[in-house]
Amino acid sequence: MPVAPRALFRLRRCGLAVGVTALCLMLPARAAPAPFEDTMAQRTLACTACHGAQGRAAPDGYYPRIAGKPAGYLYNQLLNFRNGHRTYQLMTQMVEPLSDSYLREIAEYFAALELPYPAHSSVPVSVQELQRGEQLVRHGDTALRIPACEQCHGVALTGMQPSIPGLLGLPRDYLKSQLGAWSSGQRHAHAPDCMATIAQRLSAADAGAVTGWLASRPLPAVTKPAARLTAPLPLECGSAFDASSAAPAGGNRP
Ligand code: HEC
Ligand code: HEC
Repeated sequence: MPVAPRALFRLRRCGLAVGVTALCLMLPARAAPAPFEDTMAQRTLACTACHGAQGRAAPDGYYPRIAGKPAGYLYNQLLNFRNGHRTYQLMTQMVEPLSDSYLREIAEYFAALELPYPAHSSVPVSVQELQRGEQLVRHGDTALRIPACEQCHGVALTGMQPSIPGLLGLPRDYLKSQLGAWSSGQRHAHAPDCMATIAQRLSAADAGAVTGWLASRPLPAVTKPAARLTAPLPLECGSAFDASSAAPAGGNRP
């Protein structure tokens, strides 16, 4: 998928071609032309060119929202793009030259942004799909060994600190493509990769139903991720580390 012209324009404004745009993220204020201020908002303009103003998602629905997602989750994704566990070449190029600690800073910056979500638009989805989708999210499917999504993503489905993302406010196409990427082995999380196991157990019809239901849900009044897990996870997830314990292996660049 080509970069939107607007995004390219902003990347160019950053003064660098896409391949080296990440450099722009590392430059201190004095190295850039005035009126560049050395704030995270300025340094991450290259990111928001694709991810929408302040990371609130681009209107076309292709570039996911990053604002307000749990910091540990965002950090894990940046590591995953850097080390090839997630595949999107332009993302990989952006983060390739950056250190672990700088990726952590970027993750914390976006996680702390509290921005409104756009008005909810309806999704074409059948009544049967909605029923099946809701069943999977709320109860899972014991016969197929699929745990309820809400057991990990939170009853409000707004995610769980420090590293499980919310599932609302994301376009159906994005949700579908992530489940598809997990089941085809294009996306990996830290091992054991519980989402890969779950995605492989979802049939195409179930993936359609669950993403249809999720994308048609309005956001609750409070969109923040839940503070912490209150019960053990139904499957072990290497990326769902507890904030009080060490972060999972993955970062290796001081
Ligand atoms: C050229 C456009 C582009 C630029 C520039 C870009 N991204 Fe992305 N980013 C994407 C796309 C597309 C995806 C989704 C890829 C996929 O489907 O896995 C993505 C995914 C992500 C994700 C994972 C989101 C999630 O919910 O799992 C994070 C985090 C992220 N980007 C952060 C950044 C940061 C930080 C920067 C700046 C250093 C940046 N991106 C720059 C296009 C871009
Ligand atoms: C055992 C816990 C667990 C269960 C159950 C679970 N998830 Fe997840 N999910 C996770 C974790 C952990 C991540 C973050 C993985 C990573 O770091 O990439 C995640 C990430 C995701 C993402 C990526 C979101 C994004 O912004 O890119 C999607 C989509 C998703 N899950 C959908 C589902 C659906 C649908 C269900 C129910 C059928 C489900 N999950 C059940 C733990 C779980």
